[in-house]
Amino acid sequence: MFKHWALSALLGILLGLGGVHAIGQATCVSFTSSLSSFPVVSNNRATPILLSEDEWPGVQRAASDFASDIERVTGVKPSALNYTAGQTPNIGTTAIIIGTLGQSSLIDGIVNRTNLDVSTIEGQWEAFLTREVTDPLPGVSNAYIMIGADKRGTIYALYDHSEQFGVSPWYWWADVPTTHNAEIYVASSGCAHGTPTVQYRGIFLNDEQPALQNWAMVMYTNGTGAALTGSPFNHYFYTALFELILRMKGNYLWPAMWASAFGVDDTQNQPLADYYGIVMGTSHEEPMMRSIPVEWDLFGVGPWDYSVNAQNIYDFWVVGAERAKPYENMFTVGMRGDGMPLAGGTNIALLEEIVADQRQILTNTYPTVNVSTIPQMWCLYKEVLGYYEDGMTVPEDVALMWTDDNYGNVERYPTVEERNRTGGAGVYYHYDYVGSPRNYKWITSSQVAKTYEQMSLAVARNATRIWIVNVGDLKPYEMQTEFFLAYGWDSSIWNMDNLDSYIVSWAVREFDLPASDAQEVANIIAYVTRFNARCKPELLNSTTYSLYNYREAETVLAQWEAVNASATRIRDQLTSDMQAAYFELVYHPVQATYTLANMWISAGYNNLRASQVIVSANDYGVEVESLFEQDYELEVEYHTILDGKWDHMMDQTHVMYYYWQQPQGNTMPFISWIQSQKLALTGAMRILLENSQGAWPGDNQYDCAQGYSCPNPTVYLDSYVPAGNRYFVVGAGGPNTFSYTATSNATWLNLNNTDNYVSLSAPEQRVYASVEWSQVSDVQYALISFNATVEDQSEMSFTVTFIATNNIAPSGYVGFVEGDGVVSIEAAKAARNTSVDGVTWTNIPNYGRTVSGVTPWPRGSADQNYSIGTGPSIEYDFYTFDAYNDTNVTVTAYLSPSLNALGPDRPLAIALQMDSDDPQVSYFIPNAAPGSLPDAWNQWVSESIVTVPMTFYAPPGAHTLTVYMIEPAVVVQKLVVDCGGLLPSYLGPPESIFMNGTA
Ligand SMILES: *[C@@H]1O[C@H](CO)[C@@H](O)[C@H](O)[C@H]1NC(C)=O
Repeated sequence: MFKHWALSALLGILLGLGGVHAIGQATCVSFTSSLSSFPVVSNNRATPILLSEDEWPGVQRAASDFASDIERVTGVKPSALNYTAGQTPNIGTTAIIIGTLGQSSLIDGIVNRTNLDVSTIEGQWEAFLTREVTDPLPGVSNAYIMIGADKRGTIYALYDHSEQFGVSPWYWWADVPTTHNAEIYVASSGCAHGTPTVQYRGIFLNDEQPALQNWAMVMYTNGTGAALTGSPFNHYFYTALFELILRMKGNYLWPAMWASAFGVDDTQNQPLADYYGIVMGTSHEEPMMRSIPVEWDLFGVGPWDYSVNAQNIYDFWVVGAERAKPYENMFTVGMRGDGMPLAGGTNIALLEEIVADQRQILTNTYPTVNVSTIPQMWCLYKEVLGYYEDGMTVPEDVALMWTDDNYGNVERYPTVEERNRTGGAGVYYHYDYVGSPRNYKWITSSQVAKTYEQMSLAVARNATRIWIVNVGDLKPYEMQTEFFLAYGWDSSIWNMDNLDSYIVSWAVREFDLPASDAQEVANIIAYVTRFNARCKPELLNSTTYSLYNYREAETVLAQWEAVNASATRIRDQLTSDMQAAYFELVYHPVQATYTLANMWISAGYNNLRASQVIVSANDYGVEVESLFEQDYELEVEYHTILDGKWDHMMDQTHVMYYYWQQPQGNTMPFISWIQSQKLALTGAMRILLENSQGAWPGDNQYDCAQGYSCPNPTVYLDSYVPAGNRYFVVGAGGPNTFSYTATSNATWLNLNNTDNYVSLSAPEQRVYASVEWSQVSDVQYALISFNATVEDQSEMSFTVTFIATNNIAPSGYVGFVEGDGVVSIEAAKAARNTSVDGVTWTNIPNYGRTVSGVTPWPRGSADQNYSIGTGPSIEYDFYTFDAYNDTNVTVTAYLSPSLNALGPDRPLAIALQMDSDDPQVSYFIPNAAPGSLPDAWNQWVSESIVTVPMTFYAPPGAHTLTVYMIEPAVVVQKLVVDCGGLLPSYLGPPESIFMNGTA
């Protein structure tokens, strides 16, 4: 049923219905009248808003935002007043009536009087409905009523409409302009939403230095911050933040805590949150609504160690509970040492005692309330997870908060036995992180598809009580943050095939783009987050992408350049009022990360060319210097748009990490200068080969194993190499300009750029060699001669042997074909797919490092696993030749780093089978001690992949590789068959040529 709903909402998006802004939710707004619509603003008149004096103050406040939003769109502001019982309101015959069931006497009265059916929302957490009713009040013939089942239900009804009217949740936080319309109408049938999928949906402002803190210091303080803490996060800051959270339909916050204490920084913070309707929590290591370490450092007595200082810590927590008592909270229970495991060896018993004491404090604080009904959460982070796995008991009503590995891979979801706890379970997720293997807090680096893949498991496995995402400095993770909250709001809307439409409709909402341009923005976001997710910008270095194998680095750069060109094209057609929003949300992340990647790759080429003694090293060096300055200029641009509104928001350092922690400044990648006035010992002409880091003529450690007196090189090309050719670099080994010719002695060998100049100003020429395969039978040899006429020097000549192998797959063959001694298969390109028990290997578009990922789907709640060879399977056909004379091949599966999220007795596993041989199984994520991660984990998350090799017997010919499901939640991105030719690279070889049977 929800599918139908999602489909019609989607159709609305695709048809661009009336310019209404919505991302997936059902819509009920239009900008022209119809028979079944109710006017919000018509003929320059805004329909008045009626509320009730006994309404929640937070709803009164949101209603005033609602009135302002109507004015933002139409220029006309509705009047708003409280209804006095029994009277005829002096507003004319129509009204918008807003109220909360059971709270607003106005709404309760109308429900009574009109017999309105509110059973669909009554008692439902945060549900709402809206619709037109007739004769709701004396003198009012028609009203559009907006009813929430509770306080936030009403608030969400209002903001949901505001969004559809044209006010983005990010109108202030990302400067998204409001689209103007003279009139607004709502459908008489209204909009409705039931209880959200996830009860508490929140963000964690963490790692909030330097950007957010420095920015807020300028924006919200006179430069000094709070008296005791120096924090700038006062109620002015939180006023803006709470509104944003509610507009995104979030309800929960872990406040900034590095150098801040929410309850101390500004005594208005806690009551303000409650007034707005935000449930406050504290992070996983800050029990009982007090900040750690800031508040403990200010007010604590003795060590933060319950085994020796229980009474002082107990008293400290009593203050936290009493202080929070008037407000809506989610209490963090448990205890961690200050970022470290607790002292002493009796941790489990001690933690159980601590939680018992904390619950006693809650019982004393709320004497009339059953402690089991007070929202409490225990985050099983790092070592605490270990204690839990070792048998620590957790009270049934406390929500178990599971965490990811800080890199977006959830460590544990509830097992089947854990799913019926009354406290439920939650997930703490990261878009931003400080710690090993490396911080990532500069820029957006999380893929929506990956977030969906992980959080859909949370839905399937009932971890839906609490979701919180660490958003670091808040900007620039705007869209990803909203997706996280939107998916938690209603997981039924989103599936792997319409995730793209999330970003498309987001781009339409933020920039008013036509569908094709919005799709282009979605592609830009998909690419830039892919590039940043497969290697976090903070982890990039000059050799991440291979500088010589598979043209990897240059392909990566070309892709980035294309994304940049596309982002620039969109920017150039946006009106000036859209520029700031587009810069913040799309353009800056593209430009900044493209610049950084270009800088690192250029540094790599500088280093490589220097070692190869080609003077182009200096051009790359200059490029690095210029990109290093450009990187800073982009930061300055961010800080100066809109008269400096976002000054400091890009303060985060991001160039050149020496260890996991951020550098204290940006330093340029290492570069080397070549003495370009001095001629190379072996003369002016330098020759480089593809897939080699050597250089000829003369000695180079990579020219042959011996490293000196190496023979002239041989280059191989076969008929199924994806690039279709080989290149040579003719480079300048010094200041002497030379002209060169490249010639071959074979008619079947084509060379381009055969006749050109190389000089200090054009220090590299590329010569591409390709083959007329129709003229080559089997294996043929040719010689390529490079001859140089050098200024002031004698002529030079250099010869390379070229071997062409014409492999021919059988006519009509369908499948991948070996080229360059490998078969590289993107997992999406399966030949056959066999379901078992309704579970099918299914493609997740835009997921992972290269194209997509396939995973067994659906992830039912049963978490079925299979013995080898019996599970759902997916097959890939490929064809190999005998180029390497090898009957054994190594198949490497490129798998997502995921964790044994069903507990230690369910390690992830996969089975591969070659043809009809016995399948081989790999439990590829080894068990680690409870609460810790496998040894290789840092490498796996740094590279965003786990590679699992298996060796099979596969003589030349046609083969089928079958992947079997063993455990759920395994994602396969790529499969590489090494027939003897595999070369090192970051992403693996480019996809092999696929024969579709017609050639
Ligand atoms: C309605 O009454 C409440 C409580 O007195 C007040 O805070 C609020 O501002 C009033 N609302 C309007 C629209 O007058």
